[in-house]
Amino acid sequence: MFAVHLMAFYFSKLKEDQIKKVDRFLYDMRLSDETLLDIMARFQAEMQKGLGKDTNPTAAVKMLPTFVRAIPDGSENGEFLSLDLGGSKFRVLKVQVSQEGKRNVQMESQFYPTPNEIIRGNGSELFDYVADCLADFMKTKGLKHKKLPLGLTFSFPCRQTKLEEGILLSWTKKFKARGVQGTDVVSCLTKAMRKHKDIDVDILALVNDTVGTLMTCAYDDPYCEVGVIIGTGTNACYMEDMSNIDLVEGDEGRMCINTEWGAFGDDGALEDIRTEFDRELDLGSLNPGKQLFEKMISGLYLGELVRIILLKMAKAGLLFGGEKSSALHTKGKIETRHVAAMEKYKEGLANTREILTDLGLEPSEADCIAVQHVCTIVSFRSANLCAAALAAILTRLRVNKKLARLRTTVGMDGTVYKIHPQYPKRLHKVVRRLVPNCDVRFLLSESGSTKGAAMVTAVASRVQAQRKQIDKVLALFQLTREQLEDVQGKMRAEFEYGLKKDTHLTATVKMLPTYVCGMPDGTEKGKFLALDLGGTNFRVLLVKIRSGRRSVRMYNKIFAIPLEIMQGTGEELFDHIVQCIADFLDYMGLKGAQLPLGFTFSFPCRQTSIDKGTLIEWTKGFKATDCEGEDMVDMLREAIKRRNEFDLDIVAVVNDTVGTMMTCGHEDPNCEIGLIAGTGSNMCYMEEMRNIELVEGDEGKMCINTEWGGFGDNGCIDDIRTQYDKKVDEGSLNPGKQRYEKMTSGMYLGEIVRQILIDLTKQGLLFRGQISERLRTRGIFETKFLSQIESDRLALLQVRRILQQLGLDSTCEDSIVVKEVCGAVSRRAAQLCGAGLAAVVEKRREDQGLEYLKITVGVDGTLYKLHPHFSRILQETVKELAPRCDVTLMLSEDGSGKGAALITAVAKRLQQAQKEN
Ligand code: BG6
Ligand code: BG6
Ligand code: GLC
Ligand code: GLC
Repeated sequence: MFAVHLMAFYFSKLKEDQIKKVDRFLYDMRLSDETLLDIMARFQAEMQKGLGKDTNPTAAVKMLPTFVRAIPDGSENGEFLSLDLGGSKFRVLKVQVSQEGKRNVQMESQFYPTPNEIIRGNGSELFDYVADCLADFMKTKGLKHKKLPLGLTFSFPCRQTKLEEGILLSWTKKFKARGVQGTDVVSCLTKAMRKHKDIDVDILALVNDTVGTLMTCAYDDPYCEVGVIIGTGTNACYMEDMSNIDLVEGDEGRMCINTEWGAFGDDGALEDIRTEFDRELDLGSLNPGKQLFEKMISGLYLGELVRIILLKMAKAGLLFGGEKSSALHTKGKIETRHVAAMEKYKEGLANTREILTDLGLEPSEADCIAVQHVCTIVSFRSANLCAAALAAILTRLRVNKKLARLRTTVGMDGTVYKIHPQYPKRLHKVVRRLVPNCDVRFLLSESGSTKGAAMVTAVASRVQAQRKQIDKVLALFQLTREQLEDVQGKMRAEFEYGLKKDTHLTATVKMLPTYVCGMPDGTEKGKFLALDLGGTNFRVLLVKIRSGRRSVRMYNKIFAIPLEIMQGTGEELFDHIVQCIADFLDYMGLKGAQLPLGFTFSFPCRQTSIDKGTLIEWTKGFKATDCEGEDMVDMLREAIKRRNEFDLDIVAVVNDTVGTMMTCGHEDPNCEIGLIAGTGSNMCYMEEMRNIELVEGDEGKMCINTEWGGFGDNGCIDDIRTQYDKKVDEGSLNPGKQRYEKMTSGMYLGEIVRQILIDLTKQGLLFRGQISERLRTRGIFETKFLSQIESDRLALLQVRRILQQLGLDSTCEDSIVVKEVCGAVSRRAAQLCGAGLAAVVEKRREDQGLEYLKITVGVDGTLYKLHPHFSRILQETVKELAPRCDVTLMLSEDGSGKGAALITAVAKRLQQAQKEN
């Protein structure tokens, strides 16, 4: 009995001595809670640094956005392939996810070896090898010729700009294949897979193993928002608020951030914590100076740390009687599994003896106890360091959520965590001590990262399918060169019908003679009044033209025309106009003055002289009764008479295209075409009199108002009209009319966009499938909004803000789609308009028998002026479709009022000349 006591006493004394000895030797490796809290605070600062746009480039902890935005919600399904590369084992898997009632995931997998010559050889050989393994797997599982989406778990730091791309920043752990760093690993693998003609795989997602782990665990526990790996390497990811991620546009919701915490300390932040053993280990590693935090923690290094320490202790005569074996001198001879075995609760001591003996040592009882304690200190430090960094993440989550107490789950994986007998317990305990205000559940990922990777792939494949649907809609608006040439040809043919006596009455492009026969010559002068009705603004103007210097002074005032007047009776409309004139004269102090007046009236009028214009039909937003078929000049005169306050000499009525051509022609005599791309769309040009069958005489030229907005009203461009164009037409004031205008002008583009958005929403592709009241409201997308949305300088958030101003509650993804829709619609408009313009310049070139035509087009209209791309695309299209014409587009700075005044001046002079004769 006494002997037993004595033995026990002797043993505990021995143990105490050994522990004290090791504790003394490894003093620096034992971290107090105070130190851990300090490390935790440092890691919090590192995370902040990594997330900031300006600080990220120099941050050691990279905080990589993963483009994984949500944890699984159970709606995922499908069949996927998965690769898991970078941990201790390389696996290929097939994952079947179904929802039928309850969540159900089935996996089949196969491990493949990763020989050193492959993972440290040539990059292309590594990817060829991976592709070969995949092909082999597909063959054995009978999956060849099946097109499957693939999720790639790739456990190295990658910079991602989207889910299906990742630039390898640097190899870590055991990998060091040449020529891969700085390249996109997804394309590397895709390229390698293409060599296998018999497999068709689409890599939809690249995920880090931490992300895969987080998603795997979140599938079972929706509270899971952190993923931690303590395996060959160590790392963590967590769900960060988008508003804190500077590197990614958008601020709603969350995104998973791969912290790459293994690199913590690479900038020297942990030098006071690192020991001589850590430094020695680092020097002998594949990546010296890198992954310094990882090298104190993870499985690839723990055994080696122990070996270095044991060797040092032996050298100092503190172990093995000062004896060292050659195995103890050999790098890598002690592995993490040995450390785990030596720390086993019961068999630990026996295991230690066996392991040391295998290393060619002759350990005493005391040695075994000491070595066991070395292992404990090394692995405990590992758990402590992990705990400190994890505590920082948990605190960040709690603060982000503005909670006093956080309840959360951390998904765990990695061999150290899984096989080391004490590790999980220690880790959990320290974490709970460091963050007492977090209730943390640790959940081991039973099925590795793959299940999670499959969830991410499932979401990606749903997104891809949706993308296809969106692209299908956008494709309807993409016109080929042939289609545009066809439009050009048909427009040209319509011009001829409109000009010919026999076909004129039934022609859809009316080709109206304007009785404007020449361009300004600089001799015009005088004071004129002008009206400008039919565009976005109604204006009354006073125009003073001085001869010789081609200088013009203008005074104008904009007046509103309320909708009820635009669509009321004709008398009301003209009374309102006259009221505005009276106000203007009053305002200008011109009461009683009898000035000649030019009337820009931007609607189709049949003219028999310059001062007569019978409205054929209203277009755009006007629909006043009793006007169609009436002479607009007469109606204006009558309204002036009704008011009986002043008299005006109405000399000319001109279309806005004609006014615009004249305005520009005053500066550039080469300007023989006028184009409006505004509320409506129209064009006029100078035509040879001999071609105008409706007007007597063959000499000289006359301006023709084409009214090309009506092009297509006979169905000739129905092949390119979409269901959305038809919807817009049906909802308009003039169904079936002005079909070309409805595809090309400001009043309708926004409506087309709105119709597309409604359809995409109905298909569940936008606005979470919810059609809001706002979206149902006609006219919400004015040209100015389209123009703003499409501006290149605008960040996504600003687009979103515009949509919000319009009352559309959109996510950032929605905003991207809306912008694309706007782009497709406005691009088509510019191209169609370009095809029309190409038709007229080519006609002019041919009519004049020229090899090459140089001509200027005067242009006006809010679409042309405000839209960021319209004018460029228009110009490009004309150039392509009319290569033998040198077309200069000249913006009319002064509106059509000036042109109308110039026309009035010429008409007045002619009037006087006639009187005098
Ligand atoms: C596995 C995951 O379970 O754990 C891998 O499926 C991960 O994706 C690995 O890389 C990490 O642990 P270890 O110890 O294999 O590096
Ligand atoms: C103005 C002209 O500048 O542009 C008007 O003065 C013309 O005559 C108008 O109708 C066309 O553009 P919008 O976009 O106002 O219809
Ligand atoms: C290394 C890698 C990291 C990975 C971790 C765990 O730290 O850089 O991407 O998550 O190992 O496998
Ligand atoms: C409409 C009108 C036309 C006008 C054009 C531009 O198409 O019918 O006359 O020129 O809009 O304002």
